[in-house]
Amino acid sequence: MQKILDEARAKALAEIAAAADDRALYDLKVKYLGKKGEITEQMKRMRDLSPDARRNFGQLVNEAKEAVEQALEARARGLAENKYARLAESDWLDASLPGIVPPRGHVHPVYAVQRELEEIFTSMGFEILDGPEVETEYNNFEALNIPADHPARDMQDTFWTEDGNLLRTHTSPVQIRGMALRRPPLRLIAPGRVFRYEATDASHENTFWQMEGLMVDRNISVAHLIYFMKSLLREIFKRDMTIRLRPGYFPFVEPGFELDMQCQVCGGAGCSVCKQHGWVELLPCGLVHPNVLSMSQIDPEVYSGFAFGLGLSRLVMMRYGIDDIRHFLSGDLRFVRQFA
Ligand code: DAH
Repeated sequence: MQKILDEARAKALAEIAAAADDRALYDLKVKYLGKKGEITEQMKRMRDLSPDARRNFGQLVNEAKEAVEQALEARARGLAENKYARLAESDWLDASLPGIVPPRGHVHPVYAVQRELEEIFTSMGFEILDGPEVETEYNNFEALNIPADHPARDMQDTFWTEDGNLLRTHTSPVQIRGMALRRPPLRLIAPGRVFRYEATDASHENTFWQMEGLMVDRNISVAHLIYFMKSLLREIFKRDMTIRLRPGYFPFVEPGFELDMQCQVCGGAGCSVCKQHGWVELLPCGLVHPNVLSMSQIDPEVYSGFAFGLGLSRLVMMRYGIDDIRHFLSGDLRFVRQFA
């Protein structure tokens, strides 16, 4: 009996050591330790033995059973280790290799400059306001002291919507929106797109960018206006710029000015951007007209203010020496990628 047991044990250990996978191990477990397994069968034989022999043989069978169980476990562990070793072999990666850089976009040059302006003005206590691109006639014209029969309406050719609204022709209506919601003192800027129904050339587009500015408080004068305009240009160009101020007419300011800057595309020599003048109109501005304040329920006897309407597209052209405003919305990637 003991011989049969020893043989079964030896055979089991040899087969387990050679098992190729978990499935084979499971089959071996059933074959030796299952209900009708070869070692289990040996136990059943014990009842034919004398009590002494039974104790003796029982111990041997238990030992054999434990040895087989241990062998099963050891082999299972060995198989698992092999599996991971093989995986490490086939699936290894070199963590020291440089990564793959995903393609990444960047902001459009207009928005890059817009963000800079927003930083400059917020640092001077201005808040940033947004307004809709489809505006009411009242906000775009009427409240800015441009009534329906006013010749100044012809200065800005307008896209009208069928329901009597319009695509804003300038960012100035955001002044009106700002004054409707706040009381002085107030300081705000409003960058955004504006639209004109007009023929395009190197310096004219039907869609372009402006940035409105408005400051209203007691005793605001032209001196404040000039101070803020100069700070703005110095921050953007990182040096003092050659500018000239001349009278300009806009119904919503009095007095009104045109602030011109020496053309940075040709250095003042004359080119298609500055129409051979050597100067570009960059920053129309002035002191807010009393009528505009009154219409917004602000007393012009107590308060005054300045306003400006920066030509943001033009400023970006000057900053980077861009020779045609139509590049901005051309969708030509060769253009925008130069600003990555
Ligand atoms: N809104 C004017 C335009 O687009 C520009 C302008 C002029 C804005 C004078 C102002 C200003 O705020 O004071 O032609």
